[in-house]
Amino acid sequence: MEVQEKSLHMTVLMTPEMANFAGNVHGGALLKLLDQVAYACAARYCKSYVVTVSLDQVAFKEPIRVGELVTFRANVNYVGKSSMEVGVRVMAEDLRSKTRRHTNSCYFTMVAMGEDGKPIPAPPLEISTTFERKLYEAAAMRRDMRREVARRNEEITAGIPDYNSD
Ligand SMILES: CC(C)(COP(=O)(O)OP(=O)(O)OC[C@H]1O[C@@H](n2cnc3c(N)ncnc32)[C@H](O)[C@@H]1OP(=O)(O)O)[C@@H](O)C(=O)NCCC(=O)NCCS
Repeated sequence: MEVQEKSLHMTVLMTPEMANFAGNVHGGALLKLLDQVAYACAARYCKSYVVTVSLDQVAFKEPIRVGELVTFRANVNYVGKSSMEVGVRVMAEDLRSKTRRHTNSCYFTMVAMGEDGKPIPAPPLEISTTFERKLYEAAAMRRDMRREVARRNEEITAGIPDYNSD
């Protein structure tokens, strides 16, 4: 039986062109890497093209410095029909002091796409450990909260011209 490839690790050295005006890593540079990691993780899991639909809970807890080695650990936590939640945990390592710290985690929703540019089913997620079960349940909770936030936002903003229209 083929083992599902749910996880992906990527390590990148933070180089000077990624810096912001304060000399730390620019948030946008990190977001681009996060999106690439989530793409690679989901595309390898699905063996198809995937697109990013949403990104939740990006909180930069502390700055990442130029010269640090950053490791992204991505995992497919949850699969719906065509959509998946990919969680990405970010660890930064100071190469001289060898200290490592968790700087942020965030959650992407990716959708598997067919050749015709329409969503296609993603492979059902095989859950074999208690840890994977917990990741799945937390992701399902976030999916429900996303829907609830969207519903309540529409309720509150109903009637504001152009606010909810495409
Ligand atoms: C992804 C896309 C094809 C989905 O289209 P759609 O008409 O909403 O299709 P569906 O209604 O079938 O939804 C597909 C899945 O996406 C999920 N989805 C749609 N909008 C979502 C949102 N805002 N947040 C989370 N999930 C979402 C649906 O719940 C569904 O999940 P499921 O198949 O597991 O049940 C469409 O939104 C798209 O093309 N978006 C642009 C993606 C892109 O270009 N990203 C890069 C940005 S530059």
